[in-house]
Amino acid sequence: MTIETIDREAGRDNLLSVSDLGREGILEILHQADAFAEISHRPMPKVPALRGRTIVTVFFENSTRTRLSFEMAAQRLNADVLTFFSATSSVQKGESLRDTVQTVDALGVDAIIIRHPSSGAALQASRWVRASVINAGDGQHEHPTQALLDAFTIREALSRRSGQVVDDFAGLRVNIVGDVRHSRVARSNVLALAALGAEVTLVAPEALLPISTEGWPIARVTTDLDSTLDSTDVCYLLRIQHERMAEAHLDDLDEYRRHFGLTTERAARLGKDALIMHPGPMNRGVEIDSTVADLPNALILDQARNGVPVRMAVLFRLLGGPRTVGAESGDLVE
Ligand code: NCD
Repeated sequence: MTIETIDREAGRDNLLSVSDLGREGILEILHQADAFAEISHRPMPKVPALRGRTIVTVFFENSTRTRLSFEMAAQRLNADVLTFFSATSSVQKGESLRDTVQTVDALGVDAIIIRHPSSGAALQASRWVRASVINAGDGQHEHPTQALLDAFTIREALSRRSGQVVDDFAGLRVNIVGDVRHSRVARSNVLALAALGAEVTLVAPEALLPISTEGWPIARVTTDLDSTLDSTDVCYLLRIQHERMAEAHLDDLDEYRRHFGLTTERAARLGKDALIMHPGPMNRGVEIDSTVADLPNALILDQARNGVPVRMAVLFRLLGGPRTVGAESGDLVE
């Protein structure tokens, strides 16, 4: 059950793909995130778990939620945080990805959180550095922490409703709707939600479906959103990824909205308990009507909020152990 894997050499100290974790690893992170979510309600919402560690966000693509929540997560764990902006860096003088990440690594950082437009960039970076590497989105390949925070958000909503912790998504019908072909969020979510037992359906126009879904752990694929509305528990909408389209796949966004947008009329046909999700940034009026994005069962801001405890849990998992100095000596300083 793999998605066109770029190859997994991920050591336990990197997070490059959801498949590095498996069901047990995902659940461990979600449980750890529960504890960190509790901390955020304290008057002083910080713990010293990563004091003395340094993390750096190295983003070659724009971001609001992912970068800010990683940085906030690191700060809440008392790590030191550096931010690299490619637009004002030596990348503009032609410095390569390899020289850039090796320079950052040479400073002595403990984790490099990387976002890059090329699929496979995080894996490649992990081979060049000694710091832990976290994939914050590589091209159209994967975005594992987004899938973890989405799973956490679904679990939170289901648990609130049933009055008990819901770790098993068996029987949960999730529709992932829209530009699946170019979406790293879709790939990571399919892996994470299926690992937790959900039944995932991909809904997209032919041109925005992956060329092949062989090996994807999905229940089905359809081009007919309307036929799925009354049998979905989670309607997960994707942004049209204009920046990843080499050729025009969509001439007419109104036409897209007519067939694949979650309009007010379509939202009214969802079951009353159905959850609506979107990773952001949203194109209001294209894949989701503005009024739908603001409905009480739309969890978009919960997703953003949950990015912090989930990313705290990921950082803690990778960096929370005793620190070793020198790969060979293994001397402990803590
Ligand atoms: C996503 C991304 O960048 O992959 N956004 C995010 O991280 N919340 C989705 C998108 O850009 O459409």
